[in-house]
Amino acid sequence: MNKRLDLLSTPHQEQRSRIYDLGKQLGTIEYSNTENFLDFKQKLENFIKELKQHSLNEGVFIMPLIKPFDKETVELFEIEHSLSERRFHELLSLADKIENADNPEQKKELGLQLYRLFNLMVGEYLVHIFQEENTILDTLWKNYSDLDLTSILVAFKCWAPHERAMAPLFVKSTLANLSAQQIDYMLQFIQSHLPNDIYTLVAHCVQQQRGEQNLTRNLTRRG
Ligand SMILES: [Fe+2]
Ligand SMILES: [Fe+2]
Repeated sequence: MNKRLDLLSTPHQEQRSRIYDLGKQLGTIEYSNTENFLDFKQKLENFIKELKQHSLNEGVFIMPLIKPFDKETVELFEIEHSLSERRFHELLSLADKIENADNPEQKKELGLQLYRLFNLMVGEYLVHIFQEENTILDTLWKNYSDLDLTSILVAFKCWAPHERAMAPLFVKSTLANLSAQQIDYMLQFIQSHLPNDIYTLVAHCVQQQRGEQNLTRNLTRRG
């Protein structure tokens, strides 16, 4: 069987790796050492921000593809996303409390609570992403072609702020492997499955790369 395009495993693997790094650091924190704790707190805040963004991305790019085939699963993941959001808030509030605690004993006591809560969040989150990989990928592969999924990936790269710098290069190399009809199909698929502002962004990016490709082709022919 051909290997299918996998939209979830790479971000999830990165998340797992960050979870283990943070867990290791949290296990050895000296709470009376402010610098030590604030370094962890900053990393935790950044990580939680990324996890929240990841859930939002799934809500925009993945769940609408799944909904027509498995509404219940989408609703379940939406509930889990809002529960994780609550858990993240608890973690950040506890980290604030530790930062503002008056004495080392209190910091240590709250630190133990943070350690337990972090591990509870990890347990819940690891199950969540396991379930996503287990159900979402299957539904996507059963109901969509790799060209459909490539369209979603192209749209995501053009839209996501942290991917935008590399998006033209990604679009360029993707288009190089597609025929004109496939590119037209890709744009139609994005238009019918994603919000209009995303479609506009992607259409602009694709047209730009398409124009460059045509120019290069013409120049090569003339040369
Ligand atoms: Fe998720
Ligand atoms: Fe996910």
